[in-house]
This record gives sequence, structure tokens and C-alpha cells, in this order.
Amino acid sequence: MRALIIGGGAREDALSWRIAASPSCEAVSSAPGNAGTAEHGENWPIAATDGVQLARRCTAERIDLAVLGPETAIAAGVGDRLREAGVAVFGPNRSAGRLESSKIFAKRFMQRHGVPTARATIAHSLDGALRALEDHADGVAIKADGLAAGKGVVVVRDRELATATLTQWYGPAHIPGGGSDILIEERLEGREISLFALSDGERLIPFGAACDYKRAGDGDSGPNTGGMGAYSPPRGLPENFESLVFERVLDPVQRGLSAEGERYVGVLYCGLMWTRNGPLVIEFNARFGDPEAQVLLPRIEGDFAQLLLSVAQGRVDPEAVTFSSEACVGVVLATSGYPSSATPLHGLPRRLDIGGERCRVFWGSSSPNGEAVDVSGGRVLTVVGSDVDVERARLRTYEGVHALAAQLSGYDLTYRTDIAVT
Ligand code: AMP
Ligand code: GLY
Repeated sequence: MRALIIGGGAREDALSWRIAASPSCEAVSSAPGNAGTAEHGENWPIAATDGVQLARRCTAERIDLAVLGPETAIAAGVGDRLREAGVAVFGPNRSAGRLESSKIFAKRFMQRHGVPTARATIAHSLDGALRALEDHADGVAIKADGLAAGKGVVVVRDRELATATLTQWYGPAHIPGGGSDILIEERLEGREISLFALSDGERLIPFGAACDYKRAGDGDSGPNTGGMGAYSPPRGLPENFESLVFERVLDPVQRGLSAEGERYVGVLYCGLMWTRNGPLVIEFNARFGDPEAQVLLPRIEGDFAQLLLSVAQGRVDPEAVTFSSEACVGVVLATSGYPSSATPLHGLPRRLDIGGERCRVFWGSSSPNGEAVDVSGGRVLTVVGSDVDVERARLRTYEGVHALAAQLSGYDLTYRTDIAVT
């Protein structure tokens, strides 16, 4: 099989690494790829959102399977263009991808089909949004409708802060991602879990779970980011976790998709809050998480490329999905201004030595430049260690992080020191 990974972050490096290691894979290319994907195959200099160019090159190169990495590719309709060109695509078309690209679409979908989710009001104006605050005494999550690169959600306890945010959004700052529609949602308390399911257009099957650390600083301080670290499998969940989520969340989602005639193909990422009353969905994503993919993929056994192809072709075999019992912990190294600024770095060594066994590194947005690597800033690397349990995997990962930090001490990189501690 000839595969193409679309995107250029550490998630896509992990996808290309795992696909290249699959027995059925003959070649794996990436577009645009990064310094890591270049080790597994060719990088095509085509943007992840350029469906027309991607379709043309897929035809020329006889690509059998294309995997959509980032949400921007899905929202740009890259899946639709590639399917029109006859390529099997792992990732939804634009319409089904609205489960991620429109939070209001997703909320209405959940309300229509009895998917447990946070109580919410849809507002179209400042007045309506301020009125909606009255319904939520314990704080709110204020959410822009569209994709906003992680900047579209503000969670506040305090009414004054909520009012100030709304006044900014409907005033000089504008709503992140544009438009005038927002969601005012009850603020939930509990543990956050990223749960994954594969969907071949007919059925959804569970595909593992991870815990993501979204805040920039230790102790969950600082602003929200795309994710500073993750581990899998999550600790401390009830034994019947998977069947409970299947019954309460995945089953109604699957019934809803088929009732609406929506063929959803790819991975559905359910952002869950595990509350006193069980799981509530806080968001859907139409793709693998980053950094969740980096800790999930090393745990998958069997021919991963074949599994993704079977999903893309509408014939997934639930028995083909198996996870090793080992745990993985991932820690992200980012440039120090992340997430508010991204400082490019030049001349990082292409060969990184993290010493330990069962520890690997995935490159974020970057490009190889001879024996060096240039990075555009933001999330630069994810270090992932595996071991028999989360605690040992965490120690292994941080040994790798310390070795890497010493090697890259000339660069202004930062990382959280408490991933997988609690
Ligand atoms: P989202 O983009 O919807 O995942 O939101 C970003 C982050 O905001 C989530 O990962 C949560 O940490 C937080 N969040 C979103 N919705 C809520 C909510 N209803 N209650 C509490 N926290 C939330
Ligand atoms: N780590 C969160 C995300 O990928 O959306």
C-alpha cells in the first residue's frame, strides 16, 4: 500500500512512523510533512489544505490511502476532493467534519440524539449572551462556534470576567474564528479524558483513550494550549469505562449519524468530562489529538496501515484493533513564548540522542535543512516513553526529556515537569 499523511505536526510524524512500520505499507509520503516524516518517506511541498494539488499528486503517485491529520484539512474539504479523485481517505468529508468545525452544529447534534453533554445556550448577540449568563451560576465555558486554533474557548467561574470576555468578543477583539454565534455552556468539573473511536461510515468502535494536559504551565497554570503532554491509558477510571462510554456516548452518536444519513469515516475524538454523573461530551474533534496520537499509536498492535485502510473502505474489523497493555507518556518541548508567540529556531541537530531505550522523539512543525532542522516555533518536539505502567513510563520519558534539554540547551525551549504525575 502507498500511503499519504496530510499535515506537518508531531501527530503526523507519529502517524507516518506507525504506518511506515506496518507490514502492508510499501511507501509513506507526507504533505507538507516535517523533519520526522522525512525519515520515513518523501515530503511533498503541498499545503495540508490544498485539496486540488493533493488530489492531483495522489493520482500521479497512485496513493491507496490518505490520512487527514489536522482539522484545517478536513474543514477545507480535502477529504471530499481526494474521494472525488478515487483515493480511499481516512478522515471525514467537510460536512461530517462539522462535528468539530462548528461547535453549535455539534451541540445541536448531541441535543437531537441524546448524547450526554453540558447544558448550553446558543447566543447570536451580546444581549443574548449576557442574558444566558443568568442560567449558569457556577461559571461558564464561552465558546466561539468555528475553528479558532485553541483560542475559541474561555472557561470562567466569575460573572464579571464572563461579561468582560463577551464584551470583548462582541466588541473590539471580535469572536475568535469569526462570525457572531457563540455557545454559553455550564462549567463542568471533573477529569478530562480524550476518547477515540473509529468509524467506517456504518459503525463506531472504541479506539483507546488518553489524558491530555492543555494548560501551558505546571499545576495546570497559564493559558490553554494545543496540549503540552499526554498519557495513555488513563488511570483511575471505572472498570466498565469502555462499555459505559459505548452505551451512553458512542451508541447515540452512531444512531444519530445514521439517522441523518451522514457517513462519518475516520476517527472521532470525544473530549469528555468525567463528572459525578458519568461522562459528558465537551467537544468532538474529527481527527486524532496532538499529543494524544503520540501516546496512543505506540500502543497499537498489528498492521496499523491496513486498519486505517479498512476504515477508509467501510469495512473495519473490530477484532483487528488491539492495544498493548503497556503505558505511554508524552512530554512536549515548546518554544518559550508558546502559545502566545512562536519564535522560529534554526540549526537544531537532525539526529537527536535521547539515550534510553523505549523512548522516541516526534518532530513538530519543522523542516529538514541538510543535517540540521529549522522549526517554525510553538510545539517543537514530543518525547514519548513506554513501559509497563504509567509511573515507569513517566520516569523513562523524563530521562529522555532531560537528555534532550541538555543537548538543546542553546535553544529557548520549555516543557511541563508534571505530565502524568496526577
Ligand atoms: P474545547 O475546545 O471545547 O475542548 O475546550 C477547550 C478546553 O476548555 C477543554 O479541553 C476543557 O479543558 C475546557 N472546557 C471546555 N468546555 C468546558 C466546560 N463546559 N466546563 C469546563 N471546562 C471546559
Ligand atoms: N490535544 C488536543 C487536541 O488535539 O485537540
